[in-house]
Amino acid sequence: MTLEVIVLAAGKGTRMRSALPKVLHLLAGQALLAHVVRTATSLTPITTHVIVGHEAQLVQGSLTGTAINWVVQKEQLGTGHAVSQALPHVNDASVVLILAGDVPLVTQSTLQACVDAACSDCLAVVTAYFDEPGSLGRIVRDEKDSTHIRKIVEFKDATPSEKAICEINSGIMALGGRALKELIGKLDNDNAQGEFYLTDIVALANQQGISVHGVPVDDAHEVSGINDRRELAVAERRYQKRLADDLMNAGVTLADPARLDVRGQVTAGEDCFIDVNVVLKGDVKLGYGVSIGSGVVIEDSILGDNVRVEPNTVIQGATISAGCTLGPFARLRPGTDLGVDVHIGNFVETKKAVLGDRTKAGHLAYLGDAILGADCNIGAGTITCNYDGVDKHQTRIGSDVFVGTNSTLVAPLVIDDGAFVAAGSTITTRVRQNELAVGRGKQRNIAGWTRPGKRKS
Ligand code: UD1
Ligand code: CA
Repeated sequence: MTLEVIVLAAGKGTRMRSALPKVLHLLAGQALLAHVVRTATSLTPITTHVIVGHEAQLVQGSLTGTAINWVVQKEQLGTGHAVSQALPHVNDASVVLILAGDVPLVTQSTLQACVDAACSDCLAVVTAYFDEPGSLGRIVRDEKDSTHIRKIVEFKDATPSEKAICEINSGIMALGGRALKELIGKLDNDNAQGEFYLTDIVALANQQGISVHGVPVDDAHEVSGINDRRELAVAERRYQKRLADDLMNAGVTLADPARLDVRGQVTAGEDCFIDVNVVLKGDVKLGYGVSIGSGVVIEDSILGDNVRVEPNTVIQGATISAGCTLGPFARLRPGTDLGVDVHIGNFVETKKAVLGDRTKAGHLAYLGDAILGADCNIGAGTITCNYDGVDKHQTRIGSDVFVGTNSTLVAPLVIDDGAFVAAGSTITTRVRQNELAVGRGKQRNIAGWTRPGKRKS
């Protein structure tokens, strides 16, 4: 049977107390909805329908690049009403998996188990056990035959004895398209919230002779919905723990798994070490034996084998070859491309800078729009003056060049192989191979100089 997915994401999420729709709040740097859609599409459904309503355009704009059938629910009349909006687009012959956009931690295997338990006339409901189930919908099983689920009762409609039930509705269900359409068509809103509850299809299914199967999850927290910022924070930590476990399983030592934040995809070779309070964003690839110091931020970058990043370094959009040492307190901006064994030390900033093998900039420098060869030594305080207030210009430095401390390199500029720039120079014209360039005021020493004295009052 073909599979179709319906994701409910039309609500405002009042309890978030936010101008941003709830499903656009971020978990590990990605919208809640994006997590749900990513996991759902891993089951390769023929169509993923997403129900939007509150700030529909904003929500639609958040998910580009994924094929989605967007369905607008104009008024949020309940989860059952939300599902009904998608049904005209759903094939009778498909199994339809229904998910909530605010349950981001659900795994592919749980969804697969739900789909596997469903059929054209069997309804599968993912359930979980909580010691303190709060205001979640309760699973009411038959007193005589506990394998049989009679109905789901919403907390606001529940009797005290129903409120005492610890098995809850995750909101995740699956059923054949034809039967789903029939059951949804029978819903009413005669309940405490005056809403069309999706959950009422369970009791209706029993009336229609459609069997109902509970699919309990092992880890209840997987299906925790996010309704407020505290739940969001709890989910973030749980998700981060999963990502940290993945890295440790791949052979990475984490100084403290609770003090690493991954907001994207990270791949790492064995024997990497990551110290505390590191943030990895976007696509980050670490080679073998990479060491990352505390307080480092790395975004969309590739670090080769045995790269060593000292504390408080920020790396974005950079390619770093094997054996480089960076920081502490270095800033590598997009377009930085370092050869092997390059050293970028404290308070050095690079941008669109290509540095050849073994080149060093140990302290306090700015290398922007620059191409440097191998084995150069860039002195402290060297600045590439790449901007004239209108345009950016390039500095091209050959190999084996020595640039003395506190040099000002005014681009566009070329410095050829083996050249030597004297400390404190302002260089504006090309320096040829093996030349010494001295571009500074000549020193004068004035003998017998009297210092200015303080006036007597
Ligand atoms: C729902 C379930 C509850 C379950 C819980 C699990 C119902 C009636 N209740 O309650 O049994 O324990 O999820 O997390 O289904 N939505 C729409 N349109 C609407 C209403 C809601 O798209 O008209 C969307 C929301 O944006 C949200 C999802 O459906 O993504 C769930 O709605 P929410 O109001 O959070 O339901 P709960 O009260 O959590
Ligand atoms: Ca919810």
